[in-house]
Amino acid sequence: MPVPHLPPHLPPPRTPGSYRIALVCLGNICRSPTAHVVLEHRLADAGLDDRVEVASSGTGGWHVGNPMDERAAATLTTAGYDPTRHRARQYDTTWPEAYDLVLVMDEANLADVGGRTERIGMFRDLDPIDPGGEVPDPYYGGTDGFEEVLAMVERTSDAIVHALPDTLEPPARDHA
Ligand code: 4NP
Repeated sequence: MPVPHLPPHLPPPRTPGSYRIALVCLGNICRSPTAHVVLEHRLADAGLDDRVEVASSGTGGWHVGNPMDERAAATLTTAGYDPTRHRARQYDTTWPEAYDLVLVMDEANLADVGGRTERIGMFRDLDPIDPGGEVPDPYYGGTDGFEEVLAMVERTSDAIVHALPDTLEPPARDHA
């Protein structure tokens, strides 16, 4: 019998009741900003945006301060999201200490941030349909690549939002 997919396990918050998620790719103009915009949108829909903070960055610094890649932005706009507030930032080694969870898009990003820890993993570890892969870099490809990234990001963001309430509010302990 197939094993049903379990809800993803998220590491506990450093500060009970709130949570900080960092999303990391290479340039911070395509994949992690797409995930940032979608996850924030989904958190607002779930009423969790006042307790869960999202940030994104790139391991490379070429695009720091720039808005999103025009193709990534157009894909988000067509799907009903607002990509206009994004400005690219660069990842630095303080991020894993500042965030509860750091999710990277591909194996190269994972190597660049120093590999897996309890709080560092791959974004698609949490993919509810096809877990364990990379979010492929769409930068040098066509429109299809951006649409594929958006589909992966939407279903994975839904899974993260689904898992967050248990992480934010662990079962009450009996202090008797
Ligand atoms: P991202 O895509 O990592 O998803 O933002 C890229 C953006 C820019 C470059 C590579 C990937 N670049 O080489 O400038």
